[in-house]
Amino acid sequence: MIGKLNHVAIVVPDLAAGAQLYRNGFGADVSEPVDLPDQGVTTVFVNLPNTKIELLHPLGEGSPVAKFLANNPRGGMHHVCYEVTDIEAAIEKLTADGMTVLGDGKPSIGAHGLPVVFLHPKDALGTLVELEEVA
Ligand code: CO
Repeated sequence: MIGKLNHVAIVVPDLAAGAQLYRNGFGADVSEPVDLPDQGVTTVFVNLPNTKIELLHPLGEGSPVAKFLANNPRGGMHHVCYEVTDIEAAIEKLTADGMTVLGDGKPSIGAHGLPVVFLHPKDALGTLVELEEVA
């Protein structure tokens, strides 16, 4: 069901320092910071040949990554995102298997303008999993 690894997201306490590490330290193709107010994050996209790394920093009140950063002040890996071709079918199958889709259980529009859902880490080896519908 899952396809390509779309991205790995890392929450960072300092976006400029994170971008600097990936750009100058690791020599990667790194975007300028992008504010995503609807997602409550500012993100820097690191474009690798086979996938992306997204550096996330809280933006505004009630950011979904603020508590994670409070618990992990040096930052840390936040989630992995796998591509699916039919997100409604994926939700139906996984909830039938007993997995928990976070929020209202319905897809929302994610950082790339495509439908996404998140699966509870308790059901996925302690890892927060994002599914993104990519046609
Ligand atoms: Co993501």
